[in-house]
Amino acid sequence: MEIDTRKTVKEIVLGMPASVGVFERLGIDYCCGGDKRLDDACQAAGRPVQEVLRSLEAVKTATQADAGATDWSRESLGSLMNHIVGKHHTFCRQEVARLEPLLAKVSEAHGAQHPELHRLKRLFSGMSKELLMHLVKEEQTLFPYIARMEEAVTRGARFPRPPFGTVQNPVRMMVLEHDNAGAALHEMRKLSRDYQIPPDGCNSYRALCDGLKTFESDMHQHVHLENNILFPRAVALEDTAAAAEKRAGN
Ligand SMILES: [Fe+2]
Ligand SMILES: [Fe+2]
Repeated sequence: MEIDTRKTVKEIVLGMPASVGVFERLGIDYCCGGDKRLDDACQAAGRPVQEVLRSLEAVKTATQADAGATDWSRESLGSLMNHIVGKHHTFCRQEVARLEPLLAKVSEAHGAQHPELHRLKRLFSGMSKELLMHLVKEEQTLFPYIARMEEAVTRGARFPRPPFGTVQNPVRMMVLEHDNAGAALHEMRKLSRDYQIPPDGCNSYRALCDGLKTFESDMHQHVHLENNILFPRAVALEDTAAAAEKRAGN
């Protein structure tokens, strides 16, 4: 089966979860900018469509052979949220704690020759502060509500009324915060010229570039799971539950 280049990047990732690796490697935005058509996204990333299609076809064949990657659009929302918190939130906190002092050390040692390190440090610090608060909002407010909603729907029980009106309100705010983090990461990548290590870069410089690249890649996967799978499913679940209640005359 041919991959249709008029499909959005998000549709391709949802149909073929392993394609995330290809998009990440080729610098094609599949999380915040996932609503772009594949051909437009290739153009935006400066990648020939045929090259991207070849890589996607290779992944498709490998996936069909071992069916490895979890298809989160089929798992319960509870399992998906546990996965997001256990894997991505934990990693994000760990890496912020590790990379902030490393950035301070490298910008102190190399800032005179590479002044962009100072701006990189400020960008990372501002983004991290917002991200840490963002994780708390998801873990303490939004995710528990989604879990209660899923549980009520599964048991056929009354639907819990959220303090924030509808789940669409916090979802909108979380998506906006993802966009802010995405913009900061994009700016950091540009400033660092794709995290290139300069000839005079020491081991700490190398560790910093590797760490920031991995942090970015993990954030892309994290935001993809929320923006493209968790949030649309939570909104749909709320709509379905509200319609069922209306029919039952509650
Ligand atoms: Fe999250
Ligand atoms: Fe988030």
